[in-house]
Amino acid sequence: MFKINDNFLKLPGSYLFSTIARKVSDYKAANPDREVISLGIGDVTQPLAPAVIRALHGAVDEMGAADSFRGYAPDLGYEFLRTAILEGDYRPRGVELALDEIFISDGAKSDCGNIVDIFATDNVIAVTDPVYPVYVDSNAMAGKTGEYDKDKEAWTDVIYMPCTAENGFVPEFPARTPDIIYICCPNNPTGTTLTLDQLQAWVDYAIEKQAVILYDAAYEAYISEPDVPHTIYECEGAKTCAIEMRSFSKNAGFTGTRLGFTVIPKELTAPDSDVRVNSLWARRHGTKFNGAPYIIQRAGEAVYSAEGKAQTKEQIAYYMKNATTIREGLQAAGYEVYGGVNAPYIWLKTPDGVSSWDFFDRLLTEANVVGTPGAGFGPSGEGYLRLTAFGTAENTAEAIKRIRSL
Ligand SMILES: Cc1ncc(COP(=O)(O)O)c(C=O)c1O
Repeated sequence: MFKINDNFLKLPGSYLFSTIARKVSDYKAANPDREVISLGIGDVTQPLAPAVIRALHGAVDEMGAADSFRGYAPDLGYEFLRTAILEGDYRPRGVELALDEIFISDGAKSDCGNIVDIFATDNVIAVTDPVYPVYVDSNAMAGKTGEYDKDKEAWTDVIYMPCTAENGFVPEFPARTPDIIYICCPNNPTGTTLTLDQLQAWVDYAIEKQAVILYDAAYEAYISEPDVPHTIYECEGAKTCAIEMRSFSKNAGFTGTRLGFTVIPKELTAPDSDVRVNSLWARRHGTKFNGAPYIIQRAGEAVYSAEGKAQTKEQIAYYMKNATTIREGLQAAGYEVYGGVNAPYIWLKTPDGVSSWDFFDRLLTEANVVGTPGAGFGPSGEGYLRLTAFGTAENTAEAIKRIRSL
């Protein structure tokens, strides 16, 4: 008799974005004449850069000729892409890596979810609160989070580290010692960041506690301020305690194209042993993943070409102009807003202590603008709402005009 993984049954019911989609479609069905603008889901709207498209076409042609056709990709990804990553993202920041410390994947969501495989079930995880939901849900599916407490909307065995306006969105060291610490910087959903010194303090803490940091740098390309680290390996000692995950989704518009990578330095070993975490992930990757497509890896390589860099920089500037429109527009209207300087997310404090879902409903019905209720990202997200800068400039300006006239 087969048995299911009943950890899945413990997951709280409806997923945040399905609930939002249902509310929006109900509203549209009842109000077909209204034009609803979505600044809710974190998906890009600009087309792929010309340099990327050219690389894709070239690689497709290669696949059609016998002498340049490629089958399965190497386990870790093509060397040309790992070299481009090393030379484009790490060496300029003073970080040296071996090529077999970089693992190409089909995106950061898969890596964030799959990395759980290589850690024991009884590890205690710590997450910032609010948080990108994948970190907690993937641990819950593996039975690592205890029970779900519906009243608190939290798992009993997860350490939640509140990040709110009161502590400047900087997580404090928790009372209970974690084994695995998730840090996302620049942060989704708050759009806030840690400085190099603040991140260094977490690296020092992880080393002291023999914990591992899972560092999600999916929004690295949006950093504009000089004291925000672009990689955790800018911190001293980070190679002994941190795994870094990156994505091509938000820096180059690959949300539908799919490409990402994870860095695991060989210095990172299991506490009091010489077992390399890198070897475990190599084994896992080789067994359960058969590589990102050749044509997509060529497209990823093109992101690092001079032309690709200039074109993707322009796309990021476009989104960040939207972020400024949102941030400054709402500030001028008296709203308390955070983020939007080093990230394409603006974290808005709901006015007059209104709950995030009530404010979401109000924005939808009175301004016809869709945001994401902060409470959906964790208990400390209550009282906030997330707006994204990924819309078109026209829609973004119109949405802010409508919110300001509420
Ligand atoms: C913090 C964070 N990590 C990872 C991802 C997923 O990235 P990818 O598209 O590479 O799977 C997202 C996507 O929204 C994200 O916000």
